[in-house]
Amino acid sequence: MKGYDVDDCGIVDIETHSHGREGSLSVMQNDGNALFPVRRVYYLYDVPGGESRGGHAHRKLHEMLVAVSGSFSVTLNDGNKSRTVMLNRSNRGLHIVPGIWRTLDDFSSGAVCLVMSSLPYDESDYIRDYRGYLDYKKGNND
Ligand code: TYD
Repeated sequence: MKGYDVDDCGIVDIETHSHGREGSLSVMQNDGNALFPVRRVYYLYDVPGGESRGGHAHRKLHEMLVAVSGSFSVTLNDGNKSRTVMLNRSNRGLHIVPGIWRTLDDFSSGAVCLVMSSLPYDESDYIRDYRGYLDYKKGNND
């Protein structure tokens, strides 16, 4: 099986400026330290407890997920190995590399999942069928 695997995904500490009683500020920008240039930002919110999001993979897209509020868990699967990461801090991101099947669940009340993506929205970049995903990973074809 070629391509990235779940161990290529990882937690990233986001530059944070804490101001005591006045709160904190976390920042990401497209500079030399960026893992990928951000082309799109979206966020998930109002997800009822017990609901799942995701359930797909992307062919080319890199994403960075941040629990800017509340918490949720992300299960990463490369067709061979799977691991679950809980996101519950506003200054930590999860970098998901291309070709990883991901599912988001266990959303707390008020959770907001901020997502930074390396490419504009393109439905043809999605693999939404798990069997099709396994075939894709076996051949690593488009
Ligand atoms: P999807 O990525 O499947 O959501 P999730 O993984 O959170 O369950 O997207 C849900 C819908 O929103 C789908 O119809 C496509 C649309 N969408 C856009 O139009 N633009 C975007 O940037 C994204 C992420 C989704």
